[in-house]
Amino acid sequence: MDGVSFAYRGGEEDAVHALRDLNLEIEQGRLTAVIGHNGSGKSTLVKLLTAVLYPTEGEVRVEDIVVRHETRWEVRSRVSVVFQDPDDQLVMNRVADDVAFGPENLGLPRGEIAERVEFALGAMDLTDLSEKIVDDLSLGQKQRTAIAGALAMRPRYLILDEPTSLLPAVAGERLVKTARELKDREGMGVIHVTHSMSEAALFDRVIVMDAGRLVMDGTPAEVFRRADELRAIGLDVPLGASIAQRLRSRGVPLEGDVLTNADLRKAVSALPRPVEGSG
Ligand SMILES: Nc1ncnc2c1ncn2[C@@H]1O[C@H](COP(=O)(O)OP(=O)(O)O)[C@@H](O)[C@H]1O
Ligand SMILES: [Mg+2]
Repeated sequence: MDGVSFAYRGGEEDAVHALRDLNLEIEQGRLTAVIGHNGSGKSTLVKLLTAVLYPTEGEVRVEDIVVRHETRWEVRSRVSVVFQDPDDQLVMNRVADDVAFGPENLGLPRGEIAERVEFALGAMDLTDLSEKIVDDLSLGQKQRTAIAGALAMRPRYLILDEPTSLLPAVAGERLVKTARELKDREGMGVIHVTHSMSEAALFDRVIVMDAGRLVMDGTPAEVFRRADELRAIGLDVPLGASIAQRLRSRGVPLEGDVLTNADLRKAVSALPRPVEGSG
C-alpha cells in the first residue's frame, strides 16, 4: 500500500476518513497480525487488499497487479479473505460442495477441484464432516468450512478478518497453528485481524492501527514492550507480557522476551536465587 487513504462518503461534511496515508508492505511466507481498537480501520484495510473497496488516494498493489475495479478478479484469485460471520460466506448445502464452490467458479478441471477440496478439508480437519449439511454445523465448524473454502482457492495470501472472535480461545490458537503449517508448507502469506492479544503474540509480525493510521509495526516482542502506548489507544498487552513488565518495573531481572504465560514461567524459573545465609 502506497500512500493509501480511504474515505466512506456520506455527504461532503460527513465523509468518514477510515484510513489515512498508509504505507505498508506485507510479504509472503510470514504471519502478520493486525490489531486495533474497534473502528480503527482494520476491516477497511482488508477490503482494500481484496478489491472490495478502492483507495480514495494512493495505490494498492498485489505483487505486480494494481488493485482496480478492472483487476478485481485477478486480485481475488491471489488473495482470499474470510470475514467474521461464516453465515454470510457459506453458499452451498453440503460442506464439500461449499469448499468446491470457489474452484468450480475458476473453471478448473474436475480432478484439480477434487484435489484442492481434499487438501482444504484436511487442512481444516473437516474430512469427517465433508458430507454434512452446513446448517447442522457448530459455529466453529462453519468458520472452518469458510476458511477451507478460502484455502481451496490456493491463494498466495490468506486474510482472516476476526474469524476467531466468535470462537473459544483454544480454537483461535489452533487456527494460528494451522495458519503457520500452511505458511510453512505453501509459502502463503497470512494476515490475521484479531481482537486477541494472546493470539497476536504468536505471529511473526504485529501491525497496530489507531484511527485509520498505522501506529506500530514490529515483532510481537517489539510491539508488546510498548505497553503504555498500547493502553493509551485502548489495547492491552498479553497477560504474560503485562506481568513481566510489572515485575521488571519492581526490579525483578527477568531475562529475554516475555510474551506468553509459558515465556513468563520460563523467565521466572531462570531467575537467580539468593544464596542462603548471604543476607
Ligand atoms: N460502510 C461504511 N460506511 C460508512 N462508514 C463506515 C463503513 N464501514 C466502516 N465505516 C467507518 O470506518 C471506520 C473504520 O471502520 P472499520 O474498517 O470497520 O474498522 P475496524 O474493522 O477496525 O473495526 C469506522 O469509523 C467505521 O465507523
Ligand atoms: Mg472490523
